[in-house]
Amino acid sequence: MLYSEKVMDHFQNPRNVGKMEDADGVGEVGNAKCGDIMKMYIKVDKGRITDVKFNTFGCGSAIATSSIATEMIKGKRIEEALQLSNKAVVEALDGLPAHKVHCSVLAEEAVKAAVKDYYDKNGIEYDREVFEKIEYEHCR
Ligand code: FES
Repeated sequence: MLYSEKVMDHFQNPRNVGKMEDADGVGEVGNAKCGDIMKMYIKVDKGRITDVKFNTFGCGSAIATSSIATEMIKGKRIEEALQLSNKAVVEALDGLPAHKVHCSVLAEEAVKAAVKDYYDKNGIEYDREVFEKIEYEHCR
């Protein structure tokens, strides 16, 4: 079977889908390889991510990876959420076919973009290198 049960589950029943009107940070990123788009919303309280939502114009693997990514960062401290790698997301889904691994990058980058937006809005200092490689959708 090409996709693991976890991938199929998160694709068919994605968690935390939707828009967040009162988000503290919003990140929108694009995947240069396929043109798909991911938008991530975070709610932050005392340095902790208390709620996450995502919306995507993306493939099934992008949906599944973002769905599990939202579960992995919900309740975590911001610094911990920034450590989330696409590799960790793929592992949590019991793997993705090699040619779909690039889809998981969208999830990682959208989380980072939302955190960056939160930092920018609140005048919080941060290490710019962490956000350097992200393909922000509005920049393209
Ligand atoms: Fe575009 Fe998967 S093919 S994110």
